[in-house]
Amino acid sequence: MTYENILVNTDAGIQTITINRPSKLNALNKATIEELNIALQEAESSKETGVIILTGAGEKAFVAGADISEFAHFSVAEGKALSQKGHDDLFNRIDGMGTPVIAAVNGFALGGGLELAMSSHIRIFADNARVGLPETSLGVIPGYGGTQRLAQIAGKGRAMQMVLTAEMVDAPTALAYGITNKVVPLEELMPTALKMAKKISRNSPMAIATAIQCVNANYTSGVNGLAFEVDAFGKCFGTDDFKEGTTAFLEKRKASF
Ligand code: COA
Repeated sequence: MTYENILVNTDAGIQTITINRPSKLNALNKATIEELNIALQEAESSKETGVIILTGAGEKAFVAGADISEFAHFSVAEGKALSQKGHDDLFNRIDGMGTPVIAAVNGFALGGGLELAMSSHIRIFADNARVGLPETSLGVIPGYGGTQRLAQIAGKGRAMQMVLTAEMVDAPTALAYGITNKVVPLEELMPTALKMAKKISRNSPMAIATAIQCVNANYTSGVNGLAFEVDAFGKCFGTDDFKEGTTAFLEKRKASF
């Protein structure tokens, strides 16, 4: 598949997807969301890809938001459809993927950009990251999961503050708020993301996918997370990965999943 708005590079089971519209600060237009949707589906169905890293082209921005020029004239119905399609095709897709996604955030991650990072399973920020949900300054609200995921990740009070003020926070503040797992110098962003991806890749893909489902169960209404975990834990025992992992330990060798 040839893409116009993203770059896809796979090396040793780690796929790096770079959103590549630097002249528009990598704003998420419809075409970019579609390409990301296809690339992520392909990665999920490929046995070759163990971890995905999402980043933005250039040093200035990860993603500066949804492409405002595309929705400025939208009606109520079109606005609702835009949000729903975004949830379905990209943000919920990432959140629910069995293949872990690390967001390597360089520069601005605003609106849909921060929402993209928050849908990812792990976030690493460069020290030049500036993130926020500025939608209320545009007369709208975050529509790609931001009102929910920011409150889950950073807490309700901080989410309220960031959404209502539309303010950006810098990388140290994002770290203090729990929005990012790590802050590193810009030049170390990709090496740090790759190092973490390699560490994850050594573990059982089955156990990783199951663990993601279990953590997410806590945030799924109507699902008892602990009961979900009990069931999922039991299912691990019926898998080849479990046999290999435990046998390798007992045989004092590295597991090969
Ligand atoms: N949608 C569409 N285009 C965007 C965009 C967005 N979310 N964010 C940036 N761009 C475009 C600008 O229109 C500009 O395009 P142009 O050169 O053709 O005019 C280009 O990217 C560079 O942005 P610019 O605003 O000139 O850069 P800056 O350094 O002065 O400011 C930001 C950087 C991030 C502060 C500013 O671009 C901004 O506020 N963007 C919108 C952020 C936002 O509200 N996101 C939420 C959307 S729901």
